[in-house]
Amino acid sequence: MRGLIITIDGPSASGKSTVARGVAAALGYRHVDSGALYRAITWQVLEAGVKPDDMVGVTRVLAALTLEWLPGEHAFLFRLAGREPGPEIRSPAVAAAVSAVAAIPAVREWANRAFRQTPEWGGVVMDGRDIGSVVFPEARHKFYLDADPSVRAKRRLGEQTGDGAGAGLDGVLEALKRRDAFDRARREAPLAVPPGARVIDTGALTQAEVVRTVLDGVQTEEARR
Ligand code: CDP
Repeated sequence: MRGLIITIDGPSASGKSTVARGVAAALGYRHVDSGALYRAITWQVLEAGVKPDDMVGVTRVLAALTLEWLPGEHAFLFRLAGREPGPEIRSPAVAAAVSAVAAIPAVREWANRAFRQTPEWGGVVMDGRDIGSVVFPEARHKFYLDADPSVRAKRRLGEQTGDGAGAGLDGVLEALKRRDAFDRARREAPLAVPPGARVIDTGALTQAEVVRTVLDGVQTEEARR
């Protein structure tokens, strides 16, 4: 299978990025973590001393940013403003600010233009919130991963970084719920199950089982065509 687009959407810590990486590796495609770009933009906004909900300030920061895709063997990395983002984009400060920055229409248009360049290099597996609904509505393989918030909070706690870090399981759960609620309620490209997406509850499955389920879904659909 060459050059397909596979979209994987879902709420925070639903396992999207890990599964997308596994699917990309199995198919010889490249994974694009769309949230990483929103996080890197947010980090630039915070570094510039701009408030995440200051639409004019954020748009000014955005206008000065250049993006370079770095297509690797199984993943796209990128340079934003000349540097590859590091662990700072997973910090609690970025986690708390990213939803506000990502709700700004100019930010989404800018990011979407960038995401739509990636299939020029070959097959992609892209994970995010609106990939199957807005970025690639024409993709023929769409998945939506979900799990109970308490399951997702435990996973995020295990990563020891990001949402509600240092605040224990309750703090992580609260921070995740807040970010999910904001992402679901926003006017522009809200988090929702894209039309035609297959929903997978990852709560009772291992990552390998979810990867297998996605690969089976893709292969079954391709065989049917
Ligand atoms: O890792 P986690 O699932 O918690 O989040 P992420 O995928 O890194 O996304 C971080 C934030 O970026 C989300 O909470 C959204 O506000 C935003 N985002 C978005 O709006 N659209 C996307 N396609 C991906 C991320």
